Amino acid sequence: MSTHTNDPAPVAVIGAGSMGSGIAQVAAQAGHEVHLVDVREGAAAAAVEKLQATLARLVSKGKFTAEDATAIGQRLVVGPAAEGDLAALPPMSLVVEAAVERLDVKQQIFATLAEHQPAETILATNTSSLDITQIAADVPHPGRVVGLHFFNPAAIMRLVEVVRGEASDPLVLERAAELMRTWGKTPVHCTSTPGFIVNRVARPFYGEAQRMVGPGGHAPADLDRALTEYAGFTMGPFRLTDLIGQDVNYAVGESVWEQTDRDPRYEPTAFQKALVDAGTLGRKTGRGVYTYDADGRPQDA
Ligand code: NAI
Repeated sequence: MSTHTNDPAPVAVIGAGSMGSGIAQVAAQAGHEVHLVDVREGAAAAAVEKLQATLARLVSKGKFTAEDATAIGQRLVVGPAAEGDLAALPPMSLVVEAAVERLDVKQQIFATLAEHQPAETILATNTSSLDITQIAADVPHPGRVVGLHFFNPAAIMRLVEVVRGEASDPLVLERAAELMRTWGKTPVHCTSTPGFIVNRVARPFYGEAQRMVGPGGHAPADLDRALTEYAGFTMGPFRLTDLIGQDVNYAVGESVWEQTDRDPRYEPTAFQKALVDAGTLGRKTGRGVYTYDADGRPQDA
């Protein structure tokens, strides 16, 4: 139940990884009760615990009062009781899916949500690259399925791409965009073309940099430094893909490449595949191109 009678309607986030946790934090800060769901046993509870620590840190930095942080923390609910059981999720105003970047997994989640959530619930996916129309393939009334593509870290980055699938209802898209404004985000409308706007334009940025390193090539840190110093990027391609997760970024690259009939501009690189195969996925595993401490702070900056 909501902590105040005036609270906005409850929201669910499916997938309690990097993005799901951040999205849950933003929604709770905006006053929603947030149900966090994950198929991995204990993952949603661990994410809520980590978010409580984040809120405490934000209090010590003066971003929130202790009372505000307590209220926000109380809005974070681990649910439903049977981990990952979407059928048991109570009625929501919005569900944001932030599970793994796989079409079959997302299709299954949306089919289950469509069956159990009320017709007016907005069903949104945080996919980075998959087609909204295909994700909604097994949803009987797909007008309510849209993309809400947040950027990492979701609690900080303001941009949200509001993605229109072929069947997305314009009124639902506008409701979703308006909700993002109330969350302090800047929504930008786009169509469901591979990679939408940012991930499509950014693919060659990552890929070209990855092809320039290795034996006889450039050092990743030099490339990152050159691009941040000269080109005005906050992060270079190697630091940024470590933050995103090399596995997530690789999956997005493959998806854009496949959807563009293997356009060589988007071809995934051997450099990134080697990182994924070695399990050096970036900040979340303590090691990627660079190394990180347990709190994700760079050790070799
Ligand atoms: P992650 O690997 O950190 O988290 C994914 C979570 O989803 C895991 O906890 C996993 O157990 C859970 N999960 C998998 N299948 C599930 C299911 N059927 N039901 C419920 N939970 C399930 O991944 P991350 O980075 O949070 O990405 C999630 C989604 O967000 C992906 O679609 C990704 O493309 C997208 N995205 C990622 C960004 C990034 O920078 N990492 C940025 C924007 C979008």
